[in-house]
Amino acid sequence: MIELKDLDKYVESKFQRIFILKGIDLSVEEGEFLTIMGPSGAGKSTLLNIIGMLDEASQGEFYFLNEPVHSIKDKKKSQLHKHYIGFVFQAYHLIDELTVYENIETPLLYKGIKGAQRKSLVAEMLDRFQMVAKKDLFPDQLSGGQQQLVGVARAIVGSPKLLLADEPTGNLHSEQGEEIMNIFKKLNDAGMTIIQVTHSQKNAEYGKRIVRLMDGAIESDERI
Ligand SMILES: Nc1ncnc2c1ncn2[C@@H]1O[C@H](COP(=O)(O)OP(=O)(O)OP(=O)(O)O)[C@@H](O)[C@H]1O
Ligand SMILES: [Mg+2]
Repeated sequence: MIELKDLDKYVESKFQRIFILKGIDLSVEEGEFLTIMGPSGAGKSTLLNIIGMLDEASQGEFYFLNEPVHSIKDKKKSQLHKHYIGFVFQAYHLIDELTVYENIETPLLYKGIKGAQRKSLVAEMLDRFQMVAKKDLFPDQLSGGQQQLVGVARAIVGSPKLLLADEPTGNLHSEQGEEIMNIFKKLNDAGMTIIQVTHSQKNAEYGKRIVRLMDGAIESDERI
């Protein structure tokens, strides 16, 4: 499903090139549940953003479902993102002007899902995350943990082929965090490919493979 070949991400500063990712080789098969770990600043979010087509590599090849992402147009990339990928952001990235309901509905609109089905899918998410009473509130009227739950609901509502989650439980208390991880496990059992970033060994153990990043490079890659 995903093939990264000798991928680099760097920024040019005045006197030197600073590498954020260097020489990343990674392939991920459909149905995997992979965890990216590593210290703060290792490049985890950068890597996830590139896989999610929200950021671009500076060099190297990236194939997604056999499409060469490194050489396709932005428009095609954004279509691939909308159709196949659900993304849980480290910093939520909810749309401030939209209510909880509307935030969760957004990916379904992008996917062109019809009104009645949209309504029932959003209702199912609100119910599952116990947010029915909050559906008409705006993100700034929610706690950090509640915003995170909305972010997770938005990422999975359209049943994406690939779920990318950057610290999806970082602001939840442990019980809620476990609930999210159990949801991920069920989705993966049903065939969804998942790549998550976490600092938590416990969360990593819900997955089947751990890739450790260090200073922008893969330090280890093991199945668990
Ligand atoms: N646009 C940018 N310009 C310059 N440096 C950047 C840019 N984006 C990221 N970096 C740097 O790249 C490194 C990796 O950042 P990244 O956000 O991927 O780390 P991370 O592993 O997700 O860390 P954390 O666990 O804290 O979320 C950091 O040192 C960061 O400062
Ligand atoms: Mg990060």
